[in-house]
Amino acid sequence: MKVLPTKISSEKISFFESVLLDFFEKAGREHLPWRREGISAYEVWVSEIMLQQTQVSRVIGYYEKFLKQFPTVQSLARASWEEFLPYYAGLGYYARGRNMLRTAKMVVDEYDGKFPNDIGVLQKLPGIGSYTAAAISSFAYGEEQIAWDTNLRRVIGRFFFGTKRADEWRFTIGNSRSRNRKVKKLEKRSVLNERNIRISAPEAIGRVFSVRTKTLNAALMDFGSATCLGRPKCSACPLRERCRYFREGGKQELGTGETEKPVKERLRSDWKNARVEATLHENHQKYFSSLKTSYRPFVLDAAHNTRAGIKQWFRERYGLEVAVRPPHDKVVISRVPTLRVNVQILSGNHDFTEFSRTDISAT
Ligand code: ADE
Repeated sequence: MKVLPTKISSEKISFFESVLLDFFEKAGREHLPWRREGISAYEVWVSEIMLQQTQVSRVIGYYEKFLKQFPTVQSLARASWEEFLPYYAGLGYYARGRNMLRTAKMVVDEYDGKFPNDIGVLQKLPGIGSYTAAAISSFAYGEEQIAWDTNLRRVIGRFFFGTKRADEWRFTIGNSRSRNRKVKKLEKRSVLNERNIRISAPEAIGRVFSVRTKTLNAALMDFGSATCLGRPKCSACPLRERCRYFREGGKQELGTGETEKPVKERLRSDWKNARVEATLHENHQKYFSSLKTSYRPFVLDAAHNTRAGIKQWFRERYGLEVAVRPPHDKVVISRVPTLRVNVQILSGNHDFTEFSRTDISAT
């Protein structure tokens, strides 16, 4: 179906920017340790890797201890996995950790110890995708790059495009009264066609803002985590009067009289008596197949059905440090609620395998 472009006036863009800057000045999280002036690309990179999938409040402590131990990319590049792990363990997603070490070594060996100031080159480093490259580029090098994370997409998307999906973000800019040359040029570029819409639509809207992206990115991240949440707080939103999402009646925060428990809490109470079936992240079948004709997961009782409990169980029983990995499936087997997880062995030796530790390749 053909999607008509949304008309966006330059005045609406100014409104968006000035409200956002006002919010940022009053309620921005400038205290976050990775927001300080003069931060290095290395420090931004460490924060962004840690912030991928881990909450800001959890990351702060890790970030500070990590940088005390590894203040420069050179110091990190010299570290072994065993030296690195204590400063990373608990953040989960160990592939990220392994990529950090690989990237640090590459930056030292191939880029003279300096993170490249080029988003294309940055993305060649392990674990750095388009978002992280843009974040390093704008926060550390002051380049004009929009760091398209979930919050940015949500805030910009809702305000300008309402309930439309991102692949329907088509727009024209400008109004008949105020058309400076920049806006006119943008207008030409940003009428997007069917073919390039997926790639260029979000990027194109990023180009229309005039606030430095170093500030814009941070302000949008903070606004998205304070007000324009998954369930947005529209009643307290300073953008509301011109927000298309609000006008279209998009879903909002639950009313104050709501008595239903949040989903997380509901699950916790339903599943607190679940046992755990843990399968080794990789090669589980191989480990046991020569010893038994059938292989089974490890079964842990309900007392160990938390992430910490699972780790403790493996530590005490087998002397293994493990990471708990997806799936975190909740299934009912013969009426017994069961939590299915994978565990990845990080260190330690065990005697239930015919293979050496090195056969467990990290992903
Ligand atoms: N500031 C810089 N990067 C950030 C991120 N990923 N999340 C929250 N605040 C940030």
